Amino acid sequence: MDVELVGHALSTLPEDDDHPYRTGPWQPQTSEWRADDLTVTGEIPADLDGVYLRNTENPVHPAIAGKYHPFDGDGMIHVVGFRDGKAFYRNRFVRTDGFLAEQETKEPLWAGLAEPPARSLREGWGARGGLKDSSSTDVVVHAGVALSSFYQCGDLYRLNPLTLDTLGKSAWGGKFPSQWGVSAHPKSDEHTGELLFFNYGKAAPYLHYGVVDAQNHLVHYIDVPLPGPRLPHDMAYTENYAILNDCPLFWEPELLEQGVHAARFHPELPLRIGVVPRRGTSEQVRWFEADPTYVLHWVNAYEEGDEIVLDGFFQDDPEPQDRGDGSYYQRMFRFLALDRMQSHLHRWRLNLVTGQVREERLRDTVTEFGMINGRHAGRRNRYAYAATGVEGWFLFDGVVKHDLQTGHDERYAFGEGVFGSETAMAPRVGSKGEDDGYLITIVTDMNRNLSECLVFDAQRVADGPIARVALPERVSSGTHATWASGSSIPGWSTADTVSAALRMGPA
Ligand SMILES: [Fe+2]
Repeated sequence: MDVELVGHALSTLPEDDDHPYRTGPWQPQTSEWRADDLTVTGEIPADLDGVYLRNTENPVHPAIAGKYHPFDGDGMIHVVGFRDGKAFYRNRFVRTDGFLAEQETKEPLWAGLAEPPARSLREGWGARGGLKDSSSTDVVVHAGVALSSFYQCGDLYRLNPLTLDTLGKSAWGGKFPSQWGVSAHPKSDEHTGELLFFNYGKAAPYLHYGVVDAQNHLVHYIDVPLPGPRLPHDMAYTENYAILNDCPLFWEPELLEQGVHAARFHPELPLRIGVVPRRGTSEQVRWFEADPTYVLHWVNAYEEGDEIVLDGFFQDDPEPQDRGDGSYYQRMFRFLALDRMQSHLHRWRLNLVTGQVREERLRDTVTEFGMINGRHAGRRNRYAYAATGVEGWFLFDGVVKHDLQTGHDERYAFGEGVFGSETAMAPRVGSKGEDDGYLITIVTDMNRNLSECLVFDAQRVADGPIARVALPERVSSGTHATWASGSSIPGWSTADTVSAALRMGPA
């Protein structure tokens, strides 16, 4: 392994920190690395070609009011690139306005998600205002550039997907909706080259939906009026439709008037699913009503006859109560534990002719953070790859391959003290089937005090990784990730070597 320390961020976190989302498997990094020709146990397949990108909440300062929430951490992107049976690694902080300002002042300037926005020392961002846009939630690749996003609507920061150099913010031909930002999970459609997104906020119409074309211009943007401020996190799409949602979990209106942001679940209200043609108007949004729940993440959607089939994770308990057991932090962050939310793979069938919804629980087991082969996004898919969670904590202890056709699941547990991230599916070069490829994840191994990138054969997940790629340092646990094939990255295919491609990427 050829390793070089290329950057270092200032951190003012206390030496004796005891916050479980800043220590142990969530201990943030301050170092930025360049590592080439990574040491591999097993073998990297020659037909694994592209990059696995993962975002991480990586704080460098204490919370301004002492209440750190794990979504507050500054965005750090990790990339593991695969080509010709070899792998390289980079990690970089996203150079957000907030990160740069707090590096300069050497102290926190903005309130976090669990803190009163009034504590912010500078004007902030986010759907509720006052937050730091930490850009630490998701990362997708659109038009050859990696985009990092913020949990509660913010800028999209553009990064070279190979070097992770920050290239500024998305401007979309001068039409980026800066007043509202973009929510955490914009969708990059491999088939059309479009980016579909929504944003939400506290002012009417409370939701917008938009389309950015393959040339990176905003070409469609509509109001989607809601009854009030809502907290949608994810969207889905089919070949012809975008699918939005109005979940009955939102800021309590009376408290909101007093500036208090307290999310409450309303089981007396339905889940409303909004369907609109991808370039449709506000008037064309059709709402379908379903059983009340909160859906954090959808898996996929596709059209089948008169119906839209929509898969996602139904939460049996979107607002878990404090049972008085567990540690202070376990109780405070019970909303982040999959076992407390009881998230189950679920299917909604929306009939476009009758307006009826048919629902079906697909699994009794608890999983979340589902990924699919990106070529099947918006089209029929058979497989979903999801995470299993550690009881009581926001940590992933394994990966599950759900076969939606047979109902069969295949599992792999990372092992005691080893925690993974969202597992992306990388189709093999020349792949012939939906699961003809590899699963990629980064693990944080507390037993051996190291991190590895694991590569699985997607057709034999339970057999365990076929390659373990050593990273230069143990990295913090993290969540959302993506796969981008080499062919989707400018310069990658034409460059003779990885180092040539690294020099030729977008600038
Ligand atoms: Fe998310």
